[in-house]
Amino acid sequence: MQFDVIASDFSQFPTDKKHYIRLPMLKRMVGDVAGHTVLDLGCGDGYFTRYLKTWGAQTAVGIDISTALIDLARKQEVLLPQGVTYHVGDMRTARLCQQFDVVSSVYALNYSASKKDLHEACLTIREHLKSKGRFVAIIPHPDILISNIFRYGNHVTSLSGRTTNLQDGEILRCHHKKFDGTIYGFDFYYWSAQAYKNSILAAGMEISYWLKPFVSEEGIQKYGKPYWDGYLASPSALGLVCRKR
Ligand SMILES: C[S@@+](CC[C@H](N)C(=O)[O-])C[C@H]1O[C@@H](n2cnc3c(N)ncnc32)[C@H](O)[C@@H]1O
Repeated sequence: MQFDVIASDFSQFPTDKKHYIRLPMLKRMVGDVAGHTVLDLGCGDGYFTRYLKTWGAQTAVGIDISTALIDLARKQEVLLPQGVTYHVGDMRTARLCQQFDVVSSVYALNYSASKKDLHEACLTIREHLKSKGRFVAIIPHPDILISNIFRYGNHVTSLSGRTTNLQDGEILRCHHKKFDGTIYGFDFYYWSAQAYKNSILAAGMEISYWLKPFVSEEGIQKYGKPYWDGYLASPSALGLVCRKR
């Protein structure tokens, strides 16, 4: 799995966008999770899964296809026990035989390599939602995908492939500079907002709203507002909140 190779680097990448943009977006979209059960699909090293538990989730479970990242997540759980559980699993096929109030997925649906993969991931999400459950995701912004990719705490050094007129399923290869100085390439896939919407609808969910990125008060305090203007003018992420039909 491509994230196995960069797992230890992944956990140490600078996290400005993650911490000051994606985290407050996720918090706003999930709302009050106190007492709720939450499943985080494509959880990586559990960065967001741990926050979901901190915000009061009764149960937080993370699933990721990368054994190395799940190992790191579990190590964190040993260091600072929160009661978060992690499983190695594929979001296209994982079945926990349990339903959750909220399923979240941050920057993971875009690793679906085909419409079939995207559809299967959406079926997994629906399968794990309670009847009034919500699915909350952050995806690369389909319209402004490439902007700001090299700024705001990112280790991407270059990107090959087209950056305009992208078609559904087109591969985007990012190059990361690892801490040992070697360059490592990994792929994700372009999906338009319509493609995400089609898969979500076909799986039996509907989109309640899309959320534009914003910066937390903490991020503004740390760097000042002008620092973020470039990001907010062409943000590289987009949030969406769905509910089970
Ligand atoms: C960019 S990382 C995001 C990780 C985490 N959500 C975060 O934001 O820190 C994408 C994650 O999706 C995971 N992933 C990709 N394809 C997957 C699949 N089919 N099933 C489960 N996880 C997958 C990768 O292993 C990786 O951890």
